[in-house]
Amino acid sequence: CGIVGYVGTRPASKILVEGLARLEYRGYDSAGLAVAHRKALKTTKAVGRVDDLRAAVGDEPSPGKVGIAHTRWATHGEPSERNAHPHIDAAGRIAVVHNGIVENAEDLRAKLVADGVTFASDTDTEVLPHLIAKAAADDESRSLEDAVHEALRGVEGTYGLVVLDAKRPDELVVARNGSPIVLGLGDGEMFVASDVAALVRHTRQVVFLADGELATVTAAGYEGSRLGPPTTVDVDDDDYDLDGHVDFLSKEIHEQPAALRRVLAGRLDTRFATARLDGLRLDPRELRGIRRVTFLGCGSALYAGQMGAALVEELARVPADAEQASEFRYRNPMVDPDTLYVAVSQSGETIDTLAAVEELQRKGGRVVGCVNVIGSAIARQCGAGMFLHAGPEVSVASTKAFSSMTTSFALLALLLGRVRDLSAAHGTRLVDGLRRLPDAVEHTLAGEPEVAAVARKYAHAKSMFYLGRVRGSAVAREGAQKLKEISYVHAEAYPASELKHGPLALVDAAMPCVVVVPDDEVVAKNVSTIEQVKARGGPVIAVTNADLPDGLADAVLRVPRLEPELDPILLGIPLQLLAYHCAAELGRDIDKPRNLAKSVTVE
Ligand code: G6P
Repeated sequence: CGIVGYVGTRPASKILVEGLARLEYRGYDSAGLAVAHRKALKTTKAVGRVDDLRAAVGDEPSPGKVGIAHTRWATHGEPSERNAHPHIDAAGRIAVVHNGIVENAEDLRAKLVADGVTFASDTDTEVLPHLIAKAAADDESRSLEDAVHEALRGVEGTYGLVVLDAKRPDELVVARNGSPIVLGLGDGEMFVASDVAALVRHTRQVVFLADGELATVTAAGYEGSRLGPPTTVDVDDDDYDLDGHVDFLSKEIHEQPAALRRVLAGRLDTRFATARLDGLRLDPRELRGIRRVTFLGCGSALYAGQMGAALVEELARVPADAEQASEFRYRNPMVDPDTLYVAVSQSGETIDTLAAVEELQRKGGRVVGCVNVIGSAIARQCGAGMFLHAGPEVSVASTKAFSSMTTSFALLALLLGRVRDLSAAHGTRLVDGLRRLPDAVEHTLAGEPEVAAVARKYAHAKSMFYLGRVRGSAVAREGAQKLKEISYVHAEAYPASELKHGPLALVDAAMPCVVVVPDDEVVAKNVSTIEQVKARGGPVIAVTNADLPDGLADAVLRVPRLEPELDPILLGIPLQLLAYHCAAELGRDIDKPRNLAKSVTVE
């Protein structure tokens, strides 16, 4: 969900709607805003897109110069106008926008109802304005911040919230516990948001709230007891523009060569044939002391972690694995002091991954982040790690952040290898390979028209298998994830060798199989997998850098040869394009697939 707030000298409505439009990519099904003018609130809500809200606001919005706004991704209660934020107390005085979940909402609601409060929505959030209004009315001499503080004492759960009081139209109160809130510093005006994307049109000077912090924001500035100093974010408003592309996914797929150049910049050490990852804050002795590497993440970040684990085992000969951060946090994991835990997250805000980090730290685990968004919760919680510098990723499906993650893990694996048994010659081969990677990605992207033709042919399939073994295995998983996310075609990834242990029963002419075939030690095995599929009449799309026998596969998507260890990074690129063009062929809403949010900050 997305939050925007404004207090200043200009009419708030337009700024709020523009800010929400920047946050739409994070997930939404309804939107709303509240503006205070002449000690009264004017609230507007709409189901659907921010454009629907813009239309509802109309050409003559309230002249109020303070307001709050929200795009909602339904968790409690269906998407509807009544469930859209802001939520208001019964007297119409206090408005609240909230990301997160009030876990004891049922109890709080029952108590409020017993006190005679009538609820207007099914949401957990609505308890907040009622509680704050009660705290404010109990003692009118209290500041709004104190009233919010008082109300939050009885609230369990997570929140990033902004509160507007009709009686105090020159301030907003913000609070954070587990859901991001960032303040944007303007000249005689202040902005609030859940994501810097909503602010960078106006300012690049920002302050991130930490968990447990509250602050009062006025046109003149902000006050909070424990707020850190402002930082400058290195993001341009243009980064959120389509820049001539038809959608953000296409833009971001094509930004990959540039993104990978940034990932590698300053991190390749030719002299010692290794990688430099100073942000990890680990000296060679500590690096040598690492006995295992465990990657934690969700969705594409998990699949990137699986590729990372394979790279670490292969290059450093250190046992490595990857686990769903959500499973990890709930299964009472054994935390080992000699393991390096890597929390992987594009947004740095995924609640499951953040909770896994906190659980690890509580139990003495050493955890570093691999995060794209600087200043995000996971980056701050880890305190050390590797930033991706991929630039803002707007489309819900991850592409440039994914390949930046896997490239970072190749650097990590190289670094860990070079303080162990990996030879200087081997290191040099990998440094050279990494240096050639961005160009190789560019070359692969030039094959887009061929991939699009294949996609048009197979997009109408009901279901597809994605198969790969060893180096190709995680590539297949991420490929299947991309197809599911944006085209809604069912796709399932299997290790190729598992095919005959069950899934082969499903293969027939209606089940295209995408087979990832790196030119490595198991290429012959993959050729026989393809033959098994063909023998059952299954169409085969091979993604490969090997010379496959003519006519073996029905379609071949080629990538250049790089270095065997790095090939998986390249083999993933045509699968992004395949998913993209299947989705395009099916007329899907590519950047904003149904039911999904860019980052899941609630459980
Ligand atoms: C959501 C998105 C996925 C993404 C995952 C992890 O589920 O829909 O595309 O891979 O979150 O996001 P993160 O920001 O932690 O990488």
